[in-house]
Amino acid sequence: MFKKLAASAVVAVMLATGASAAGKAGGHVENVDFSFDGPFGSYDQNQLQRGLQIYTEICAACHGLKFVPLRTLSDEGGPGLPEDQVRAYAQFYEVFDAELDDFRPANPSDHFPESNLENAPDLSLMAKARAGFHGPYGLGINQLMNGIGGPEYITALLTGYTGEEKEEAGAILYENTVFPGGWIAMAPPLYGDDVEFADGHATDLQHLSEDVSAFLMWTAEPKLAARKQAGFVGVVFLTILSVLLYLTNKRIWAPVKARYKK
Ligand code: HEC
Repeated sequence: MFKKLAASAVVAVMLATGASAAGKAGGHVENVDFSFDGPFGSYDQNQLQRGLQIYTEICAACHGLKFVPLRTLSDEGGPGLPEDQVRAYAQFYEVFDAELDDFRPANPSDHFPESNLENAPDLSLMAKARAGFHGPYGLGINQLMNGIGGPEYITALLTGYTGEEKEEAGAILYENTVFPGGWIAMAPPLYGDDVEFADGHATDLQHLSEDVSAFLMWTAEPKLAARKQAGFVGVVFLTILSVLLYLTNKRIWAPVKARYKK
């Protein structure tokens, strides 16, 4: 019995380390202390607004956010733009209106447009589609404390260019230390000082990358705070229920126990 248990424990550890080794194929991803990490984390509204600005001025040239309704920019817990600003912002985009059979400026009720560039993936859900870390030994401890590391992966991707490039089958590829395979078709989109913030916030490469990653985390999970709150209430509820069930159980069996004590 003990031998069997020991053997299965060894196999489990081997599988777990194997899984984490596979996850590291894309290179090391550093943890970033985002405001939305941990069981009580929530988005930093100013950071989301800066991220929106970076997305708009730089990433939107190629990438779309087709699953994100423009009106959610005014949501509480999100970037929290006033509604008149959302309306003004929406006008920057053109959407195809099937009824008019023509393009028209977007309204808050429309979604962000799709990607402009054919091979640039839509970024709406990217922060949840990628994982930055799995460690230690793939046990999921990191996920519990820091999330799955999607935004960390995007930050590491944006700061992970080595400057090397090569041409392959007519396309230029850029060396990147975190992109699986090491060569990505996206030219470095950020260098630092690419945008200017109204609040004078830092615009070095690391800060810009973190801000746009936080924004992409929000597009991928706009209801994060509500989920965490519901989870917390659930844990408290279950704790109280467990105590009550334990006491009830004791009371139900008390007469039986008393009989056999003698
Ligand atoms: C000039 C066009 C262009 C711009 C601007 C651009 N990207 Fe990309 N991006 C691409 C292309 C093309 C790919 C696909 C790369 C590949 O699969 O090799 C890509 C892929 C990505 C990926 C997915 C990587 C993966 O793991 O599959 C992310 C994340 C990303 N871009 C984020 C951004 C962010 C954030 C910005 C703005 C700061 C940005 N991109 C600006 C063209 C662009």
